[in-house]
Parts: sequence; C-alpha cells; structure tokens
Amino acid sequence: MDQDLVVRAPSPQPADTGAGSLHTRTILEGVGSYLPRRVVTNDELAKRLDTSDAWIRERTGIRQRHIADDDESCAFMATQAARQALENAGAGVADVDAIIVATATPDQAFPATAVRVQAALGATGFGFDLSAACSGFIYGLSVADAFIRSGQARGVLVIGAEVYSRIMNWEDRGTCVLFGDGAGAVFLRAGHGHGTGADRGILSTHLHAQGELGDILYVDGAVGRHDRPGHLVMQGREVFRHAVTRLSETVTEALAAAGLEQSAVDWLVPHQANLRIIDGIGRKLGLPPERVVVTVDRHANTSAASIPLALADAWHDGRIQRGDLVLMEALGGGLTWGSALVRM
Ligand code: ACO
Repeated sequence: MDQDLVVRAPSPQPADTGAGSLHTRTILEGVGSYLPRRVVTNDELAKRLDTSDAWIRERTGIRQRHIADDDESCAFMATQAARQALENAGAGVADVDAIIVATATPDQAFPATAVRVQAALGATGFGFDLSAACSGFIYGLSVADAFIRSGQARGVLVIGAEVYSRIMNWEDRGTCVLFGDGAGAVFLRAGHGHGTGADRGILSTHLHAQGELGDILYVDGAVGRHDRPGHLVMQGREVFRHAVTRLSETVTEALAAAGLEQSAVDWLVPHQANLRIIDGIGRKLGLPPERVVVTVDRHANTSAASIPLALADAWHDGRIQRGDLVLMEALGGGLTWGSALVRM
C-alpha cells in the first residue's frame, strides 16, 4: 500500500452517526466509453451462419454489435474509456488512487489489465482486475465504494472492458449472435452526504453468487492458452430463468436498503443481455420504457462493459441528469448477480 495514499485518505466514518452528521459518500463524477470501430449487423452474421435478423431481433432485441480489431485490445479500450471518464469528471490522473477493471477477457493472464491502463494513463496508486463475468461492473462499484468509504482511496476508476469476440465459438449460432465488444468507465471520488436517500453518490450495492450454477454459463478454456483459448458455453433458457427471478429480488433489496420506493427511481440502467429480460425488470419497477436505458440493440451483450456503456450513452446525450436516481443491475456467469443504486 502506498504510504502517501494512507496519509491523504479520509478517516473511516463511524457506522451510525445519525442523519444529522456527515457520512463519506462515493460520488460518481464522470462517465466514459469506447466502442470498436467495426460494426457487424445481424444480416452480416446471417451470411455465414444459419440464422436471421428476424430471429435475433425477436429473441434478443439485438440489431448489431461492435467487434474489436487486433489493435483494439482490452487494455486499449479500457484506457480510452477511462480517459473520457476523467475528462468528463474534470479530474486528472493525479486524482486516481486505484483502478479496477472488471473483465472476463483480459489480453493476458497477468499483469492485470488495470496496471496496463495505469501505465497508459501515467497514474500511480494500485490496480487489479476483477472477474465476475457480466456482473463485474456492479462488483467493481461495490469494491470501489468500500475502498472510498473505508478511506483506502479517494479517487477510483471502475472500468468494464470486454473482447468477447475472442471467446466466441463463431460456429455456434446459439451464442455468437448475442455478444459484442467495448468498454465503459466511471470515475468515483470521495464526497459527503447526510446518510439519506437524497445524498448524491452510491446509496447501496448488493452482491450475490451461487457457485453450484457455474456450469450453465462458462468458458471452456483459459486466457493465454493459444492451443485452446476457450469458448463461451451457455444454457440460454436456464440463464434466462434465473435472470428474471434474481434480478427482481436484487432491485427490491437495493431500494429497501436505501429506504426508497420504486417510484423514486428515475432511470433503470440494466445489464444489456436481452431486451425481454430488460423489459421484464422495467415493468416490475413500474417504469415507463422511456426511463429504461437500452443499448442492447446497438451494442449486443458486452458483459462487464454493458452497464457503463449504457450509462455513458444516457449521460452524454443528456437524458440522465445530476440528481437523478439510477438503479443498475446485472446477472452473469458464476452465477453472479447484484445491484447498485446511485444518485448522480
Ligand atoms: N438463429 C436461429 N435459430 C437459432 C439461433 C439463432 N441465432 N440460436 C438458436 N436457434 C434455434 C435453436 O437451435 C433451437 O432450434 P430447435 O428448436 O430446432 O432445436 C431454437 O432456436 C430455440 O433455441 P433456444 O435456445 O431454446 O431459444 P430461446 O428461445 O431460449 O432463445 C436465447 C435463446 C436468446 C439465448 C435466450 O435463451 C436468452 O436470451 N437467454 C438468456 C441468455 C442471456 O441473457 N445470457 C446472458 C446473461 S449472462 C451474460 O450476460 C453472460
């Protein structure tokens, strides 16, 4: 641990200081994203696979996906998204104490993508990768929030970056049509609030895992094995069934923990796996469709990158405003799932 960091960090807050006193809050200051240049439509896939634009759209809502070229590595895309998040926050590299990259598709087994990003940015402090498949960004937010509230870091970049095109079996129409590549990032900074739902910042996070379901969605190889890099294998129907139940539970617990009603949610920014799952959660929250951020049609499923990419979309076009209450949720391989409630 960097000694300077310990000295500069704020003291941890007592667990219960009452609503009148100040609590450390993790404020989401800036958002950034990067999408690969190359766009691949459903029709292009249908030229080399027994599938169709109609089938893909009807079952998933996906119209196209971005696919990385060789020069668009996981670390490159993560760095681009991080730079934009810092710029958007009006922050500099000197404000970064820690970098967390959520990814299931790092360029190398080690060093971590996060330290490649650190070097590219010229930042100091510490960094590591986090593996929780599609829930990785929610896990990253939760870990960063704990670092900030405990005083271990004041400024944290949380990045979701994925190159799923490299773990696709391009002969398997049941999976390869569903995923895309990209990166999204947020810059989080220590701030203060009164410990109420009106505070800006991360209001609650919830994480879950159920390891005995590890075999319904997995990669059958390892990073760095050129002879067998591994392909994604999924029992789609099983994943779908668990997603609807678990995500409904986790949005309910997120609101209960912050003492807020469903009607307080301004935006749902869900993991972008399937439009039918997204619509189901939106309906459960009683949110009109225009309050649910959807990018799965353009980005497909970008795993840990999907939530920050969707957040960036709605933040940069002005839909999501400062003060809005944003509910994020994801479920992925593990199974892992979780939620984060954030006032922007
Ligand atoms: N084009 C045409 N036909 C296809 C395709 C395709 N791309 N893929 C599968 N089919 C066929 C199947 O072969 C099958 O044919 P058969 O009836 O002749 O055997 C038929 O379509 C139905 O297949 P199912 O897999 O049962 O289709 P289903 O309706 O379940 O839809 C889907 C599949 C879209 C994958 C759905 O199960 C789903 O969305 N599941 C959730 C997956 C998910 O969200 N994963 C991500 C969450 S976790 C994460 O993000 C990593």
